[in-house]
Amino acid sequence: MTSPVASTSNTSSASAGARASVAALNREVVARVQDIRKTYQMGALSVQVLHGISIDFFRGDYISIMGPSGCGKSTLMNILGCLDQPTSGKYFLGDEDTSKMADNELSSIRGARLGFIFQSYNLIQQLTVVENIELPLFYQGVPEEESRRIAIDLATRVGLDTRLDHKPYELSGGQQQRVAIARALSNDPLIILADEPTGNLDSKSGAEILNLFDELHQQGKTLIMVTHSDELAERSERSIRLRDGLVESDERRRT
Ligand SMILES: Nc1ncnc2c1ncn2[C@@H]1O[C@H](COP(=O)(O)OP(=O)(O)O)[C@@H](O)[C@H]1O
Ligand SMILES: [Mg+2]
Repeated sequence: MTSPVASTSNTSSASAGARASVAALNREVVARVQDIRKTYQMGALSVQVLHGISIDFFRGDYISIMGPSGCGKSTLMNILGCLDQPTSGKYFLGDEDTSKMADNELSSIRGARLGFIFQSYNLIQQLTVVENIELPLFYQGVPEEESRRIAIDLATRVGLDTRLDHKPYELSGGQQQRVAIARALSNDPLIILADEPTGNLDSKSGAEILNLFDELHQQGKTLIMVTHSDELAERSERSIRLRDGLVESDERRRT
C-alpha cells in the first residue's frame, strides 16, 4: 500500500520558496496535517479555533511555531501530540491516519512515536532522574535492564551523569528540563514536540537547552516547538507563524 505521507507533495500553506527547497531535498514526510479545523463547544456556543491548517513535517525538520496568544498554537500541538483530535481534516503520523483512532490507539501511538517537552518540565517528583527518563520505556514494556542502560546513556548525553539518583526537586530548572529532554528521547520518537521549552528558564539555562536542541537537530531528530523566543526561532531552520487559526507564513531559513 502506498502511504499518503511517503511522498513529498505540496501543501497549500507552504510558501513557494519552501516548496521548492523541500522538493529539491526530497525528504521523507514524517507527519502531515490536512485541512484541519478545530471547534470547541462551550455549552450552546461553538468557537472555531483552527480554520483549515495544512502542513507537511519532514524528517529532520527543526521547526518553531510562533504567533500571538490565543491563535491556536497549543490546540495544534495537542493535535500533533495525539492528545486531542481535530473536528475535521486529517492527521497522519508516520504512515498512520490518526483521524479515526480511538483513545486507546491514540495513547499507544503517542507512547511509541512521540516525545514531549513541556514548559514546566512535568517530571514525577517521587522518581529519580534515571527513573523519570525510563518511564516511557516502562510503558513500552522494555525490560528493566535495557531501559536502565538507555536512561543512563541519555542522562549522560544531557550532562546529568552525576545526578542519576537525584529527585527533580534537587535540581535546577535547567537540569530538570534536561531530564525532560532525555525522557523525550528515550523511546526514540519520530517527532519531539516542545511547548515553550525555555519559557521558565533564565537565559544561561535557556542557552544550554538551545545548544542541546541544536545537537539533536544535527543528529537528525525532528523537532517541533512552540516558542515566543526570537532566539529559539532564529536557531530553528523552519519557522511557521499562525494567526487566527491559519498558517500566516511558513519559511525555511536554511537546509
Ligand atoms: N478546551 C477548550 N475549550 C474552549 N476553548 C478553548 C479550549 N482550548 C483553547 N480554547 C480557546 O482556543 C483559542 C486558542 O487557544 P490556544 O490553542 O491555547 O492558543 P495559543 O496556544 O496560541 O495561545 C483561545 O481562544 C482559547 O480560549
Ligand atoms: Mg498556548
